[in-house]
Amino acid sequence: NKAASAFYRFPLADVQGIPLMSWIAQNWSSIWAFCPDPSDLLISTYPKAGTTWTQEIVDLLLHNGDADICKRAPTAVRIPFLEISSPPPIPSGLDLLKKMKPPRFIKTHLPIQLVPEGFWENKCKVIYVARNAKDNLVSYYHFDRMNLTQPEPGSWEEYVQKFMKGKLAWGSWYDHVKGYWKEKEKRNILYLFFEDMKENPRREIVKIMRYLDLSVSDDIIDKIVKLTSFKVMKDNPMANYSSIPTEVFDQSISTFMRKGEVGDWTNYFTPAQSQMFDEDYARQMADMDIPFRTKI
Ligand code: A3P
Repeated sequence: NKAASAFYRFPLADVQGIPLMSWIAQNWSSIWAFCPDPSDLLISTYPKAGTTWTQEIVDLLLHNGDADICKRAPTAVRIPFLEISSPPPIPSGLDLLKKMKPPRFIKTHLPIQLVPEGFWENKCKVIYVARNAKDNLVSYYHFDRMNLTQPEPGSWEEYVQKFMKGKLAWGSWYDHVKGYWKEKEKRNILYLFFEDMKENPRREIVKIMRYLDLSVSDDIIDKIVKLTSFKVMKDNPMANYSSIPTEVFDQSISTFMRKGEVGDWTNYFTPAQSQMFDEDYARQMADMDIPFRTKI
């Protein structure tokens, strides 16, 4: 019985005005106190912007394209999710991190002001990936249908409203993408776009390689492009979240590796919704010019 599971549809609770899963809010003081090693790398995104894809690219770059090593464990074990907290006995992100030696790669969805200060004090490298609002919203909607730990998504129309008001878990997409954009030079953040990765994965993988001060041969880069294609990752049990039990991710509702496209929003927004969304977008994004693309 899914509804009886301890994981079922956690409510959200505010941390400094940001709605987060209640277990994260409860655990907040230890998350905030986390101090990384200067060699640790942070991969940060608003949920559904291409986190898993970037995690796979980084893991493969660091292991010189060795597909077997990168299948040593599921994504969430290889690259712990900093703030994730669940009812016991499921290990939290912090539990996993405690058992690993630096350099570690760490995932987060926290907006920049909630990233523990040790990351900035220790000048850790940070890769941020952003995805255009409409595709990000569509992807999050399908994810919230199948991720039974998240609040009920409600109807599509309701979901669009919640997204625009910043009521979804991890808060406002608008504030999230702007927060990192504003700080990217000062804090040496590599700011990437999902759309660029789709358009030319090789180019973006090389950017990541250079940012990480790695040098990987052209052949290996080609191999990584293939290994991190949507098709290959969809069939990789260590990258497609198939190891997560159905009480948590019910992939019979929607698969984690759903479509991986740019422009799927056109299949969901009515012309009226699209216009209303764009008008609101112009208001919310008026103070910063971030070159998002809704098609490629
Ligand atoms: P869709 O729901 O649009 O298919 P995250 O990892 O941040 O949760 O993001 C998940 C989104 O990234 C999903 O988008 C997923 O399909 C897409 N994705 C994951 N791996 C991908 C890849 N290798 N290429 C393209 N898209 C990918």
